[in-house]
Amino acid sequence: MSVNMSKWAQIAKENVHNRPAGNGRLAGKITIVTGAAQGFGKGIAEELYKEGATIIVADMNLPLAQQVAQEMGERACAVAVNVSDEESVANMVAETVEKFGGLDILVANAGVVRSGPLAEFERKDFEFVTAINYTGLFLCCKYAAMIMQAQHEADPDAMYDIIAMSSKSGLEGSNKNFAYAGSKFGAIGLVQSFALEMTAYNVKVNAICPGNYLDGPLWSDPERGLFVQYLQAGKVPGAKTVEDVRRFYEAKVPMNRGCLPIDVARAVMYCVEQKYETGQAIPVTGGQVMLN
Ligand SMILES: NC(=O)c1ccc[n+]([C@@H]2O[C@H](COP(=O)([O-])OP(=O)(O)OC[C@H]3O[C@@H](n4cnc5c(N)ncnc54)[C@H](O)[C@@H]3O)[C@@H](O)[C@H]2O)c1
Repeated sequence: MSVNMSKWAQIAKENVHNRPAGNGRLAGKITIVTGAAQGFGKGIAEELYKEGATIIVADMNLPLAQQVAQEMGERACAVAVNVSDEESVANMVAETVEKFGGLDILVANAGVVRSGPLAEFERKDFEFVTAINYTGLFLCCKYAAMIMQAQHEADPDAMYDIIAMSSKSGLEGSNKNFAYAGSKFGAIGLVQSFALEMTAYNVKVNAICPGNYLDGPLWSDPERGLFVQYLQAGKVPGAKTVEDVRRFYEAKVPMNRGCLPIDVARAVMYCVEQKYETGQAIPVTGGQVMLN
């Protein structure tokens, strides 16, 4: 490992009271959002930026991340990261401290899906999903913890947040989508365990479990989106058009629509603003999944 993290932890410690300007409920909060070049991550990053946070748009797709950061404004910058690669994650955190002086919020949002029936599913696809959604979450939390623990030493009253993007598939099984569901259940296991350890450093660790983002690229992409794929695969009985497939999925939600980035961003705001909850998995599903 060529990144000298103790150097960056020391710099974060020295800068704990030195935060970028910004107005709003998250003024000054230095925030990494992984997978923020598109989808939920982009929407979360934009909302937090509007609330005064400084944003690191961290994504594997650097050109798109740069475009997103530029459109947001001067308190945003793009960083290239592959969350499944330890050196790359260390670099992301080091670059954040180098540029802005510390780290207050990690939104570990980057994630991928590979689905298929059990008897046909390839081990490489299983490992691909696990490496990004599960191991990648561990790596991002590990390097964020190094900085947050150092900052805690310098300012024991300050609170920090780690927020992991799980899914409604982290709360109940998902048919022919077990690699994804397993990784998202696993994310909640990590979150609960990190939460127990990190209270000692005033770091809250929570998970958010969104419902389907039906308007997002994963579902709505006209060529590769799940609506088109499910229509072609005949997964929805009687469906003749993409709209039929869409209505079928909307009808599963008591509130009758898909989850939107603003819904998830509001849950992120809740995680940060409340001061008495950690280790939770918060559903944002329009009533589709209810906790016991
Ligand atoms: N879309 C949904 O319906 C839905 C529902 C529940 C939970 N989620 C979760 O929300 C998160 C975001 O989902 P989305 O639908 O917005 O995804 P998306 O595919 O639209 O965007 C994911 C982003 O992550 C980036 N990325 C992928 N692999 C990466 C890696 N190894 N390192 C860094 N960046 C990487 C991609 O470049 C992309 O910009 C994921 O964790 C997903 O599992 C999504």
